[in-house]
Amino acid sequence: MHDPHTPHQNSAPAALPWRDTRTLYGRITRLLHWAIAALMLWQFTGMVLKLALGRAPVVGFFVGSHQKVGTVLFVLIALRVIWALANRGHRPDHGAGLVGLAARLGHLALYAVMLLVPVAALLRAWGSAKPFAPFGQQIFAAQTPEIGWAVGFGELLHGEAAWLLLALIAGHVLMVCVHEGLWRDGTLSRMAGRRRLTGADRSRDFR
Ligand code: HEM
Ligand code: HEM
Repeated sequence: MHDPHTPHQNSAPAALPWRDTRTLYGRITRLLHWAIAALMLWQFTGMVLKLALGRAPVVGFFVGSHQKVGTVLFVLIALRVIWALANRGHRPDHGAGLVGLAARLGHLALYAVMLLVPVAALLRAWGSAKPFAPFGQQIFAAQTPEIGWAVGFGELLHGEAAWLLLALIAGHVLMVCVHEGLWRDGTLSRMAGRRRLTGADRSRDFR
């Protein structure tokens, strides 16, 4: 680890790179990560309130936008998967050993389930006998008759996978707290805030 008190020619703070590097996530990944996290919070707050309070006005405030926000989330998540693949090979490494393997598997599970949740809902909407027009403009026309497998897939998986996703997110946030509070290894600063770029960042991806 570089000692922040020791002057070093490569350690001046600098603007974040757009792309990821071996030691930190760049601007695009961060924008997608935090936008998705905020919209997920909106979706889950609404659905938890719906379960707890039923048809209260505050519930309508959140749930009334559920399909719109969910559709936007699908687009952001699809972009995020493409961006992650485009940055493969020059993103922060999670290290060898069991903890590194667990981090890689945990992130893979987050990617898989966060994609499955809106895909299941959108398949159900596509196969439904009702038109799907979350923004006023029709995205999917009504099917006559409805497409049974698509509606069945969404019915079976959307809600269940969404609660599994919430559990994965809780585990993810808990692990970030462990990294920050116990191990103090600077994991959060890869995804948030400023961090002094190292020589490796500069020579590799910094532009
Ligand atoms: C990543 C985005 C999304 C998240 C996190 C999410 C989350 C949830 C959750 C937690 C529930 C409650 C399930 C239950 O009551 O057990 C739910 C229900 C619902 N969602 Fe989503 N949702 C998302 C995207 C969408 C999209 C894109 C649509 C529409 C195409 C949609 C339509 C619905 C509908 C109609 C329900 C009520 C029926 C049901 O339980 O399946 N959601 N969602
Ligand atoms: C308060 C909430 C959150 C915090 C504090 C947080 C923090 C972080 C941090 C620090 C990293 C970098 C970890 C590392 O380099 O080892 C990360 C990565 C990641 N986060 Fe979050 N996160 C939050 C919410 C979420 C949510 C809601 C999702 C998805 C639904 C999510 C999905 C991911 C994924 C998939 C990665 C791995 C990125 C990659 O390597 O491709 N996070 N998060």
